Amino acid sequence: MKSMVKMIKNLSSMFNPKAVCVIGASRKPGKIGHEILKNLINYGFGGKIYPINPEAREILGLKAYPTVKSTPTKPDLAVVALPAVYVSEAIEECGRKGVKAVAVISSGFKEVGNARAEGQIVNLSKKYRMRLLGPNIFGVFYAPSKLNATFGPPNVLPGRIAFITQSGALGIALMGWTISEEVGLSAIVSLGNKSDVDDADLLEFFSQDPNTEVIVIYMEGINDGKEFMKAAKKTVMTKPIIVIKAGRSERGARAILSHTGALAGSDAVYDAAFKQCGVIRTSTTTEAFDLARLFAGQPLPDGDNTVIITNGGGMGIMAVDACKDSGVTLMDIPKDLAAKFRKNSGMPTFGSTVNPIDMTGQIYEAGYSGAIKTALSDPRVNSLIILYCQTAVTDPKMIARAIIKTLKENGAKKPVVTSLVGGEECRVGIRELNRAGIPSYSEPQRAVFVIGAMHEYARYLRKRKK
Ligand code: ACO
Repeated sequence: MKSMVKMIKNLSSMFNPKAVCVIGASRKPGKIGHEILKNLINYGFGGKIYPINPEAREILGLKAYPTVKSTPTKPDLAVVALPAVYVSEAIEECGRKGVKAVAVISSGFKEVGNARAEGQIVNLSKKYRMRLLGPNIFGVFYAPSKLNATFGPPNVLPGRIAFITQSGALGIALMGWTISEEVGLSAIVSLGNKSDVDDADLLEFFSQDPNTEVIVIYMEGINDGKEFMKAAKKTVMTKPIIVIKAGRSERGARAILSHTGALAGSDAVYDAAFKQCGVIRTSTTTEAFDLARLFAGQPLPDGDNTVIITNGGGMGIMAVDACKDSGVTLMDIPKDLAAKFRKNSGMPTFGSTVNPIDMTGQIYEAGYSGAIKTALSDPRVNSLIILYCQTAVTDPKMIARAIIKTLKENGAKKPVVTSLVGGEECRVGIRELNRAGIPSYSEPQRAVFVIGAMHEYARYLRKRKK
């Protein structure tokens, strides 16, 4: 049985090491051990970095050491990038040196049927009370300590979303995607075969991590369902957990077995377990990060009433349909509020105040601003979806700026999401909104989906807190 205090302490050494060694730091650019070392250096890790390679004197300007034993100070974290057959020897050496955590990049263990070798490195890490991440991983990233011990992209954006992934290649791909989408991450952890450190351990850590606000997990299978549920139930009370669970189909489940050696289990059981502990399940990575962005930037709603503000009838109707699918409650606008929307937005007489509030295509920045202020100041409105269709009479960038300014000046205490549909100018507006922490999407359905999931999570919390 793991001691909880010890466990968290050692994971802290993994995320906040004073010194890191890379065992198998290759001299050759393009090799995995070389690229990990390069990322560590270039991302600006502030502690000591020790390349370990018996053949080298210096790598990337750093003095190289032939063994872990010979490093001048004790590394807290060792990243192992050696062929599988040499890994146990390296781990034994780390144990003797007093290393606290090892991240084993190497493949060639349980995922290819080599359970014996995996058992051996697990036993060694237990013997020396080290935490073992992997094997079969691309590494670990933690923004607060500027630790990029991965062979993924070098320029990950710092933020408040922790991303845990069981798949290496998908994880690396998504690292790149988050950069191009400007999604900031607090951490990325590649779990691989989960021989020791698993989802539950990381939930324990991130639930107490002040740098993380929301946790996204790509999951293929769980080793210990009970531990996961216990950790998830506790974590969701302060931080949302979003899970992309793969292997829903029978063939998908079989593919998982040969990917990370995990047993996918019954999908219905996972579904029920996630619901029970308030974990949000998404089908796609886009949904997961759309949602994570919302949780990282916006407060939770106090109640269920949502209002849609739009300049386009068709877009409003599509959003209304999506509300039904996503469990969003559209507020029945009371007469007094309808009158305020009409007056404050300055909409023409042919505009509509039946939710969606359709201000029509002849509305400008001031109209948006007036309608937003009206929604924000009314306590009966709990969340707001702002939609915009590009027109020739308005500039999407200026509309985006008006939304940002209005929300800033009126100290929004309710969640707001936006969707701008149109050409390149809308992309610029979306980018500006996202940079300002106001989630913005290119399709209204995406905005509705995230607000629906957030309301469901808020309802779950209210029920648990009763
Ligand atoms: N201690 C330290 N360094 C050593 C030792 C030792 N005992 N013995 C050898 N080295 C050096 C080597 O000399 C070499 O350095 P050099 O290139 O300067 O000569 C370096 O360590 C690496 O050793 P190699 O034998 O060249 O190993 P190689 O780099 O080819 O492979 C690796 C190691 C990358 C870990 C490989 O075995 C492997 O598992 N690859 C797959 C990794 C992977 O995909 N992980 C999964 C998740 S990510 C995903 O799915 C995309």
